[in-house]
Amino acid sequence: MQLGLEGVVAAETSLSHVDGEIGRLILRGHEIEELAGRASFEEVLALLWQGLAEEARDPAVLATALGAARCRAYAIAAPRIDAAEGLAPVEQLRLLLSALPDAETLPHHLLAVAAVPVFVAMLARRATGATSIAPDPALGHAADFLRMLRGAPAEPAEAKALDAYLVTIADHGLNASTFTARIVASTRAGTFSAVAAALCALKGPLHGGAPGPVLDMLDAIGTEANIEPWLAGALDEGERLMGFGHRVYRVRDPRAEVLKKVVTGLRGRANRIRFAEAVEATALRLLAERKRGRRLDTNVEFYTALVLEALQLPRALFTSIFAIGRVAGWTAHILEQERSGRLIRPQSVYVGPLPQAAA
Ligand code: ACO
Repeated sequence: MQLGLEGVVAAETSLSHVDGEIGRLILRGHEIEELAGRASFEEVLALLWQGLAEEARDPAVLATALGAARCRAYAIAAPRIDAAEGLAPVEQLRLLLSALPDAETLPHHLLAVAAVPVFVAMLARRATGATSIAPDPALGHAADFLRMLRGAPAEPAEAKALDAYLVTIADHGLNASTFTARIVASTRAGTFSAVAAALCALKGPLHGGAPGPVLDMLDAIGTEANIEPWLAGALDEGERLMGFGHRVYRVRDPRAEVLKKVVTGLRGRANRIRFAEAVEATALRLLAERKRGRRLDTNVEFYTALVLEALQLPRALFTSIFAIGRVAGWTAHILEQERSGRLIRPQSVYVGPLPQAAA
């Protein structure tokens, strides 16, 4: 028995492969380094949906359909958005995703992917008292999200950086949220239910909730002189350092390097990157000294935090922005799972008391 299902194979997939021993991520036969910054989010979505969804036959057709679906998502959310009052941003997104109607006639995988950036931008603007901005179906997914959020067109370099981030995190084997999506899909509850459930799994700090706390950590450390005392103090308290460690990787997460390159390509980030590198180096040394039996290295969230910060995106939105990219993988896994048609239903070992008569 393996508590936490570590090393247990629970699905067969042709979508992505994570090799934790050598730090390799493959999406449908392509290295992640080959895709991020080179292929657009729409192209990678088409790659993931290949053979699973009609729209994936042609990336250009898919981009047009995705733009139209963003408009549909906007119309669905507008009358429902006030119900999100008083909730945290990721809880608001959870609420709106749950409200997507199963009776919707657009393909549900398409609408789910389109809806996430639209809902995130609408909710963020509402929180500041600003009016929502309708999607521009002619724009790329990343550029349109930044425009809907800010109310002004994004610089091409910013849109490209966000696009590279969305591609980097689009899919990653059977991570907790993707497994959740597959479990719900296996019950035939439908795509919207599976995506909403996946978001619930993503929002935990051990999964997609880490990048905001990474920045909080960098801010709390503050100065180079404080790096070692601060990190050592946190470890003394038994805390986990955000942005380090991974269930599968025994070496550096390859996505960390990809995202480091993305943030390095943005203007005005040199000092912040230098400071982050110093924190990273000390954290890795302390983790190696204190967790001798376990190789802990930098994970995707460390440099995710720096990319999203460079794009001046609010920390409170980081997990929701993760979902903009990861919903690509969720929907591909849902489509794949629905094809296999097998209910996922593992077993547990009962360790409670037996009835008196049987004991
Ligand atoms: N800081 C300090 N100690 C750590 C860290 C960390 N970041 N990660 C693991 N450890 C410790 C554990 O406490 C454990 O110590 P113990 O044996 O003394 O109890 C030991 O290292 C082994 O832990 P693992 O079995 O490797 O951890 P697990 O696979 O259960 O957890 C996880 C992986 C959740 C990512 C963990 O490393 C962690 O909490 N990291 C910090 C949060 C984070 O960065 N999350 C984002 C992950 S990436 C993603 O999901 C997109």
